[in-house]
Amino acid sequence: MLCLGIESTAHTFGCAVVDRNGKVLSDARDAYKAPEGKGIHPREASRHHIEVSSQVLRQALEDASATMKDVDIIGYSAGPGLGPCLRVGAVVARTLAGFYKKPLVPVNHALGHIELGAMLTGAHDPLVLLVSGGHTMILAFSHGRWRVFGETLDITIGQLLDQFGRAMGFASPCGGKVEQLAGESQQKNYTQLPYVVKGNDVSFSGLLTAAVRLAQKDKADLSDVCYSLQETSFAMLAEAVERALSFTGKREMMIVGGVSANRRLASMLESACARQDSRFFACPIKFAGDNGAQIAWTALLDYAATKNKVAVKDASVTQSWRLDTVNVAWRN
Ligand SMILES: Nc1ncnc2c1ncn2[C@@H]1O[C@H](COP(=O)(O)OP(=O)(O)OP(=O)(O)O)[C@@H](O)[C@H]1O
Ligand SMILES: [Mg+2]
Repeated sequence: MLCLGIESTAHTFGCAVVDRNGKVLSDARDAYKAPEGKGIHPREASRHHIEVSSQVLRQALEDASATMKDVDIIGYSAGPGLGPCLRVGAVVARTLAGFYKKPLVPVNHALGHIELGAMLTGAHDPLVLLVSGGHTMILAFSHGRWRVFGETLDITIGQLLDQFGRAMGFASPCGGKVEQLAGESQQKNYTQLPYVVKGNDVSFSGLLTAAVRLAQKDKADLSDVCYSLQETSFAMLAEAVERALSFTGKREMMIVGGVSANRRLASMLESACARQDSRFFACPIKFAGDNGAQIAWTALLDYAATKNKVAVKDASVTQSWRLDTVNVAWRN
C-alpha cells in the first residue's frame, strides 16, 4: 500500500511517497525563503507553494517510480498552520483525490512530526519534546491521546531563535545560524538572561527582549549572546523534560521538530535522560523539519487503524488544531 503525503503548513511545500512498512520511497520539498531580517509572510509563502506544487508532486512520484494510479491513499496536513499555506496543500490533495478517486486522510501536522520520528528512531512509548516554529510541547501518550506535560506560555523556542536572529539581520529560519555563532563563542562567556519556568511550562518572551537588548544596546559580542541565549533557553527545556520524565516514569525520550537539529539541545537532553535512566532518541536531522513523509506515514497509520477518510467536499483545514484534541487509534 502506497500513500502520497502532502505538507504545506508553513514555509515548506512537500510531497512524499511512503509504503506500509514505513519505507520512504521519495521526499520532495521546496521551501519559501523570506527576505533577510523578515519573517514568513503567509500570502507570499502560499504563492510560493502554488508555484512549486506541480514540480514537487512530479518529483515525488518520479523518485518513487510511481504514478498516481499506484497511490492507494492521499494524506494532507490539515493544521495547525498558516491558513493560506494550508489551503494550497488541501486544494492539491482534494483535486488529486477527487480526480483519481483515492481515499483522503487529513493529518495533524504535529502528530506527523511525532509519528515519523517514532518510526525512524524505533521509539515505542517516549516522552516527546516537540520543538519547532509553531510548537514547544512536552507530551506523553495516555488514554488514546498525546497529553501535554508542559508547553510554552507565550512564543515557541523556534520563534525565540528566529525572532532574535531576525533582529540581528539574519535570514529566517535562524536556528542554525544561532547554533553556529554559539559554537564560535571563544570564552564561553555566559551572561545571565531571564530563566522562566512556571510549574512545568516555559516562557521565552522576556528572554527574547533581554537577548536583543544585550546584543543591540550593550553591544555584547554576538557569539557570546547566542551562546547565552541557547544555554538559558535549552536549560529551561531540559529542566521541564527531566521533571516530566521523573513524573511519568517513561523509559524513552524523543525530540522532534525543526529545533531538534540543534546538537547542544540534544546533548543537554541526553544528560537529563541519563540521570532519569531513560533512552534518548532524536529524529534524524533530514526529517526534523517539515516534510511530506511525516504526513504520508501518519495517514497510513490512521487509515490502517480506522479506515477513516473524508469526502472531498468536507476536506477542510484548521489553523489552530491542537494535538491534544486528536484521537489516536493506533497507539495504546
Ligand atoms: N540547528 C538548529 N538549531 C536550532 N533551531 C533550528 C535549527 N535548525 C532549524 N531550527 C529551527 O527549526 C524551526 C523550524 O522547524 P519546523 O520546520 O519543524 O517548524 P514549523 O513547521 O515552522 O512549525 P510547526 O512544525 O510547529 O508547524 C525554525 O524555528 C528554525 O530556526
Ligand atoms: Mg513542522
